Amino acid sequence: AYLQRIVPALLEWYPGHRRDLPWRVHPLPYYVWISEVMLQQTRVETVIPYYRRFLKELPSVGDLACCPPEKLMKLWEGIGYYSRARNLQKAAKVVMEVYGGCMPDTKEELLKLPGIGSYTASAISSIAYGRCEAAVDGNVLRVSTRLLEDSGCIDEPKVKKRWEKIWTAVMRQYQESCPEKGSFPGTFNQAMMEIGATVCVPGGAPACSRCPLSAFCLAHLHEGELLYPVRKTK
Ligand code: ADE
Repeated sequence: AYLQRIVPALLEWYPGHRRDLPWRVHPLPYYVWISEVMLQQTRVETVIPYYRRFLKELPSVGDLACCPPEKLMKLWEGIGYYSRARNLQKAAKVVMEVYGGCMPDTKEELLKLPGIGSYTASAISSIAYGRCEAAVDGNVLRVSTRLLEDSGCIDEPKVKKRWEKIWTAVMRQYQESCPEKGSFPGTFNQAMMEIGATVCVPGGAPACSRCPLSAFCLAHLHEGELLYPVRKTK
C-alpha cells in the first residue's frame, strides 16, 4: 500500500523530466530491443550515434536477420562485447522464422530469444507493448534499496528477483485500480531508470531535492542515502 503511492508520483514526474533520447521517439519493439541491448554495457552518450547508424542501416528485424556478419561487426565496432551483436542477429532470425517478423510481446516468449535476459525482456514487454513487467537493472536497484533501506547485497540474484517481483506486483495492482491508464508500464519503468540515471546517482551525493520519491524514501529520511546499495566486499 505504501509502495502503491509511488506510482502516481513517478507518472506525474516523468513527462517533465525525461531526456529526449532517440529510442523514446517511437517505442517500437525492435527499437526498444536494440537500444536496451546497446545500453547494457555502454553509456547513453556513447550509444546514441551507434544507435542511429544501426537503425539507418538495419531499419527492421528482417534487415538485421539478413545482414552480412562483416557489416554487422562494422556497425558494432566501438561499443564492444561483440557477442551482443551476434546474439541480436541470432534472435532476429528466430523472430523472422518463428514469429513471422513480429517481436513477441510477453516476457516469457522474449526470454527464449538469445541475448534477451530478464531486464531486456521486461523493458520490451512494458515499453513497447504496455505490459506490467518491472525492468530492474543496477540503476533501479539503487533507487529501490535506498527507498526501503534494503540491506540485501545487490550482487546476489535473489535481491534483484525480489525487487522484480515487488515492482511487478505494484504495477499490476495499479493497473487494476486505474484500468484507464493503458500505457503506464513503460512510463513507470523509464521513470525509474531516469531517476537512477539523473537523480539517485551512484558515488557522491544523490540529488534528493529534485527527487519525486524523496517523501517516500527511508534512506533519505534517515540521511543514509550513501549506505545503499550494499555490495559484497571483495
Ligand atoms: N539505461 C538502460 N536503459 C535505458 C533507457 N531506456 N533509457 C536511458 N537509459 C537507459
